[in-house]
Amino acid sequence: MKNSVCIYIHWPWCESICKYCDYYKFKKDKNINYLNIYKCFIRDLKVLEKYFYDKTITSIHIGGGSPSIMNVELLRKILEYIYNKYQIEENVEVSIETNPEDILNKKLIEYKNIGINRLNLGVQSFSNSALHFLGRNHDKKKAISSIFNSSKHFENTGIDLIYGLPGQDKNTFEKQIIFARELPIKHISLYEFEYKNKLQNNLFSKKNKLLLEEKKFFLYEINSFAIKGYQSQYNISVLGMNNYIGIGPSAHGRISKENNYIKIRNSKILKEWSNPKENPYKKQILSKVNALEEFLLLGLSKTEGICIKKLEELTNSQSLKYINFKNIDALKDKKLLFEKRGRLFLSHKGMFLINSIISNLLAAN
Ligand SMILES: C[S@@+](CC[C@H](N)C(=O)[O-])C[C@H]1O[C@@H](n2cnc3c(N)ncnc32)[C@H](O)[C@@H]1O
Ligand code: SF4
Repeated sequence: MKNSVCIYIHWPWCESICKYCDYYKFKKDKNINYLNIYKCFIRDLKVLEKYFYDKTITSIHIGGGSPSIMNVELLRKILEYIYNKYQIEENVEVSIETNPEDILNKKLIEYKNIGINRLNLGVQSFSNSALHFLGRNHDKKKAISSIFNSSKHFENTGIDLIYGLPGQDKNTFEKQIIFARELPIKHISLYEFEYKNKLQNNLFSKKNKLLLEEKKFFLYEINSFAIKGYQSQYNISVLGMNNYIGIGPSAHGRISKENNYIKIRNSKILKEWSNPKENPYKKQILSKVNALEEFLLLGLSKTEGICIKKLEELTNSQSLKYINFKNIDALKDKKLLFEKRGRLFLSHKGMFLINSIISNLLAAN
């Protein structure tokens, strides 16, 4: 995978701001200058070109914010610049995150015409009271009609749902899953509601997993289920420590070069990013420990886990110096971690404790 790269495009604007959202976003500016924004995205590509010009692009992920409010002509110009200038894999995945209220037939056709082939809808919930609580601009009816509409144009349609909302218990969330699994979708991401340090209430039970497995959705990474063959290629690449670059304010990327990983971060200051004459990026070579930490966190987020051999590669055959093997055995005894065919992976319970497990794995001997 050394010769491949993914591109993340960050569109930071939204129609309105949800109070619970911690992403890098702003309320849409009425006087938005599309020409300047185009110049800045292209400037980002040009600045980063030296890291990826020799690699094949395997996926492009358009996220945000709310990229479904983005002017499609602007998106077309950015994508065409990428398609014309760089090497693109024949089956490149081009995916966009959308808000259900923005999904109209005309837009779906336009998306298809500019090469988008995967669409994800931020449904969040099929309960009108939950959607009202979240302050969303869509209701259950619109969520469902957008899913059906999208699936007519995009075989590869997915949704996001949030669990652990106030007033939601195991039963009500199970009902959401039972409803969702019958819809014409190939991918479901489940995010635990995070707001003002709310305590976790683990509504994502084994039962939910079984309910989805009954309909052939399998968990492939900590938050996402997919029908076989419909896993997000972008997610898989980033979690697998493959190369990716990020364009747009706040976007980041990671490129492997000569046994090192370089993290390249774009400015989070919108004013700085919006000057097409400036280079808004900062780069940092990851230390061995930081690279290892990232490898463990991302790799163990995948249900297939990490390859033990890769640990040796990353530590220049000095894994004993960085990894606490005694703790690995203890975690295995507690059935939080398993080892099979040269790979280490977390159990369902272990997935919820990933952060503390990683600090255990890295702890000094
Ligand atoms: C970039 S966000 C939003 C995409 C799109 N603008 C939308 O709102 O539908 C991607 C996903 O993160 C999840 N998310 C955002 N804030 C969250 C929070 N505070 N707790 C849990 N999930 C959250 C939502 O499921 C959302 O669809
Ligand atoms: S629309 Fe999406 S990105 Fe924008 S504030 Fe709401 S959750 Fe965040």
